Amino acid sequence: MLIPSGLPVPIAGTDQYHEFHAHPEHQYLAGVAGPAGVLAFDPREGWSLFAPEPTPDERVWSGDGVSLEQLALHAGLEGAAPLAALGPWLERHRGEPVALLGNADLAAHPAGYGVERWSALELVIDQELSARLSEAVSAARRAKDVGELQRMRAAAAASATGHLLALRTARAGTSERRLQVELEAEFFRAGAERPAYGSIVGSGRNAAVLHVAPSSRELATGDLVLIDAGAECGGYASDVTRTFPVNARFDGAQRDLYELVLTVQQSAIKDARPGKEYRELHMEASLRMAAGLVDLGILRGDPAALVERDAHALFFPHGLGHMLGLSTHDAGGCLAGRTPSDRFGLKWLRADLPLEPGYVVTIEPGIYFIRALLEDPERRARYRDDVNWGRVDRMLEFGGIRIEDDVLITADGAEVLTAAIPSSIDAIEGLRKEALSA
Ligand code: GLY
Ligand code: MN
Repeated sequence: MLIPSGLPVPIAGTDQYHEFHAHPEHQYLAGVAGPAGVLAFDPREGWSLFAPEPTPDERVWSGDGVSLEQLALHAGLEGAAPLAALGPWLERHRGEPVALLGNADLAAHPAGYGVERWSALELVIDQELSARLSEAVSAARRAKDVGELQRMRAAAAASATGHLLALRTARAGTSERRLQVELEAEFFRAGAERPAYGSIVGSGRNAAVLHVAPSSRELATGDLVLIDAGAECGGYASDVTRTFPVNARFDGAQRDLYELVLTVQQSAIKDARPGKEYRELHMEASLRMAAGLVDLGILRGDPAALVERDAHALFFPHGLGHMLGLSTHDAGGCLAGRTPSDRFGLKWLRADLPLEPGYVVTIEPGIYFIRALLEDPERRARYRDDVNWGRVDRMLEFGGIRIEDDVLITADGAEVLTAAIPSSIDAIEGLRKEALSA
């Protein structure tokens, strides 16, 4: 079995490279995350780790890097070998079937790993075995161990400092970009290596774009601001969303919709426990969302029938959340054999499995007024009687609300790892008052 970490990806037309992200299977099994590393397993010999040593020129420009001794220590192996030893290891397995996990770029770009004569090795990549082992690694990655949870708690704590700073300092005239910079600076100050994913900061109507990139738009009085950003510590992600008013208080519609999203989120957190199917949590959240939208006069009809028709997904189009770990949308979200549905209300559900102790999932319902969905003539026709379109048309500039926490499944329930970041209306309004009186 070969598990490469991946090669640096050049930025076309330049002499630069994209930020390197090791394949999480390599990172998980090898405990290290550098480029061009290969973890190998032979049932007779056990594990070997091969890693590049810097050339004299690379030492001048990029430093000595991590020594083979240190890498071995991280990997829990007695030793690590320079990449030059990979060729002879492969030679010894000439003609044998091999499982290839991690970054498959080894087969396409063997020279990047110092292997010049790949085809002469006549290695047969067993695709079925590779997929089966990859699935086994994903299964192993689902429940986090003590060391992983320590890193996830550190990431959650770093995220908390950033989100609290944003809640305490944002004001009319602050740009989305500036909020991003200040928030990420706090992540770094709190020990993060990097943001776990591209920070999302959307104000006003921008908050209706699910993965909106922060822009130079300045927050305006009366806006809601949605910040979806998380720190990464020790390779592990946190993933947090908070939505708050630029003013000291939520206004009428903001308050009603925020309360609904929060109620849906808190109910799902309360119901998250071992044995609970994540898909069921999503469906129950969808039903609560539909009922709330009926109460608020946005949807019309019987909530269960509305969910049956995916009408709620016009306003809550994404899944309730996903697995979290080395990746933001962590591997293993769908149990083997379960295929994602193409139903409008389910196609972006990224977790479909029974929860077990040690799993970390996000719970992140939201309500948005997304023009791409709400102005689509086909959807208008399909949901003609299900939606109060007059009301919706007056809310197309509303933006959106999402509330997201990272939740560890425990022996008998759930623990919110990101609970230090307030989400109640009272707490948020308290922090906003502080921000505006500073
Ligand atoms: N944090 C972005 C997402 O979960 O898609
Ligand atoms: Mn998320």
